[in-house]
Amino acid sequence: MGEFMKKDQLILGIETSCDETAVAIIKNGREITANVVASQIESHKRFGGVVPEIASRHHVEQITVVIEEALKQANLSFAEIDAVAVTEGPGLVGALLIGVNAAKALAFAHNKPLVPVHHIAGHIYANRLVTELKFPLLALVVSGGHTELVYMKEHGQFEVIGETRDDAAGEAYDKVARTLNLPYPGGPHIDRLAHEGSPTIDLPRAWLEEGSYDFSFSGLKSAVINTVHNAEQRGETIAPENLAASFQESVIDVLVTKTVRAVAEYGVNQILLAGGVAANKGLRAALEKAFSDKADVELVIPPLSLCTDNAAMIAAAGSVMFEKGIRADLSLNAIPGLDIETYNT
Ligand code: KG4
Ligand code: ZN
Repeated sequence: MGEFMKKDQLILGIETSCDETAVAIIKNGREITANVVASQIESHKRFGGVVPEIASRHHVEQITVVIEEALKQANLSFAEIDAVAVTEGPGLVGALLIGVNAAKALAFAHNKPLVPVHHIAGHIYANRLVTELKFPLLALVVSGGHTELVYMKEHGQFEVIGETRDDAAGEAYDKVARTLNLPYPGGPHIDRLAHEGSPTIDLPRAWLEEGSYDFSFSGLKSAVINTVHNAEQRGETIAPENLAASFQESVIDVLVTKTVRAVAEYGVNQILLAGGVAANKGLRAALEKAFSDKADVELVIPPLSLCTDNAAMIAAAGSVMFEKGIRADLSLNAIPGLDIETYNT
């Protein structure tokens, strides 16, 4: 290799914060070389949600297989990897620990740097696998555990300008789906149903105080549950597709309106969509429509496979953290309530 030829940077990422055991290898921060996800959805479905003990057990069973599969997919040996990036938090503690311990074992055995990654930073960096980030930017993060507007003035700098005060958007989707007897995870089912119905039912929108970028979805969730129960008591039936459409319209209305307002106030160059609920067809379409006439901001929406939990996003964020010199030693622990602003400099 010539003196001026820079070696490709190869980051192996590990994600086990919830119910996917995932390992990926990313080249130079932006190129997917391997991306393996072992989903446990089938095991949790009959319980109507993620059972932490079952999640941990599956992670233990899957992790080494998934690591080997990723190296095989990339046709690489571990010696060629520059660093191991792992989700440190937030998430289920027992689930996170499996990934953290696997990462520590790999880093120790192969003498590689260990890079801790925040799960939501990962969701945001999924967008860098689509296009280069242009700062300052704003990310709308909508997942099962989080609903946040995050402002970034540069790589690795996260400022939460608004967040949910109660339920996350995905959580509301899953609870409403349960009320309508739809399987877990309910988001995709509500999304599908919503497109078969019309928003005929009047449901609340929590705008909160003037100027606030915070969110609240528990009132909306309760309104849906009450609507269903009241109808049952009166012996009436409500068309589930219309209820799904009305619920989805209310969620999207608040998310898009606040995002458009924040984009204008913060004068950003890019708006990124991130998290599992970013897979929502209605939300994707509404954002595209809202930003279609705003030529000065670029809307980035990742493909569905990079919206839900995966390790490509963890390795992508890990690549930037690695460049910034962020390291963990072998005392790294899982932090279930980790703050995204932890690594800001
Ligand atoms: O980001 P994610 O995979 O896990 C967390 O970090 O929480 O998000 C999972 C959430 C679940 O609540 C699921 O119902 C929701 O994303 N979701 C959707 C859709 N696909 C997944 N919600 C609405 N519409 C969808 N199409
Ligand atoms: Zn997630």
